[in-house]
Amino acid sequence: MKHFINLDDVSSVETLVNLGLNLKANPLQYQSLGKDLTIGLVFFNSSLRTRISTQKAALNLGMNVIVMNVGSDSWQLEFEDGVVMDQGKAEHIREAAAVLGQYCDVLGVRAFAGLTDRDEDYREVVLESFRRFAGVPVINLESATRHPCQSLADLITIEELKTKEKPKVVLTWVPHFKPLPQAVANSFTEWVLRTDYDLVITNPEGYDLAPEIRKNARVVHNQDEAFAGADFIYAKNWSSYESYGKVLTQDPSWAITPEKMALTDSGYFMHCLPVRRGLKVSDAVIDGTHSAVIQQAGNRVWSAQAALTRILESR
Ligand code: CP
Repeated sequence: MKHFINLDDVSSVETLVNLGLNLKANPLQYQSLGKDLTIGLVFFNSSLRTRISTQKAALNLGMNVIVMNVGSDSWQLEFEDGVVMDQGKAEHIREAAAVLGQYCDVLGVRAFAGLTDRDEDYREVVLESFRRFAGVPVINLESATRHPCQSLADLITIEELKTKEKPKVVLTWVPHFKPLPQAVANSFTEWVLRTDYDLVITNPEGYDLAPEIRKNARVVHNQDEAFAGADFIYAKNWSSYESYGKVLTQDPSWAITPEKMALTDSGYFMHCLPVRRGLKVSDAVIDGTHSAVIQQAGNRVWSAQAALTRILESR
């Protein structure tokens, strides 16, 4: 695997999930693979899980790790070509990515959506610039429209918990007062569509994901109907794709409560975290025995390590 930016970089989801499970059982089996190599983790946005789990994964592979927060630790970066750089941005991505590629053997990059210009976000300007100019493999640590490290961890978690060959997996929109990116929901949809699971997406009218993401997935606008008999409830807020970046509703009846979970077949509650308790999910659900959120977050190590292993093997 040359890069891990989106699902196009992955030839077999099943093989990668199995590698993650295998690494979880024996974390140090490839501890020399990254010896004397360096990964640089570049953050344009905040992170807890991604930052630490990717460092842990790299350490398990014997790598050295450098972390940089863009803006506070570095110059502000310009991504447009042909501009006169006479404003606040002091360095162009063409030089910045190429220079980081001189210091690091692999780069991980986090850069969220701006949520003002749909075309710009869906062109993935930041991640694609690193892919073009860094000269080393790039791992997506959550970009404008995708979060593959999260999705791989999510599938590892479902594989660990499922009791049926073809579980019913429901991706549900939950309320939030701020516009949030579509990256987690997009990636989860794409990755689940590459499995045998039965996927249902439920969201209010006006919140359908991009047509090229949801493809022929079943989308229902009645949450109770979607939850019936579900084995996994994956909760996430996202802002509107159609009315791009807008909050169209904060309807609290879409939050996950014990009453909602009672509609499922003893389903597990999943969320990528961080999550706002009380707003998106009741304490009783996230603290309950069928909450998978901590296991999911733990599996972020094995997803990052599986992706890094494949990248290091291909160098
Ligand atoms: N789920 C996730 O990516 O968490 P962080 O934003 O804390 O990295």
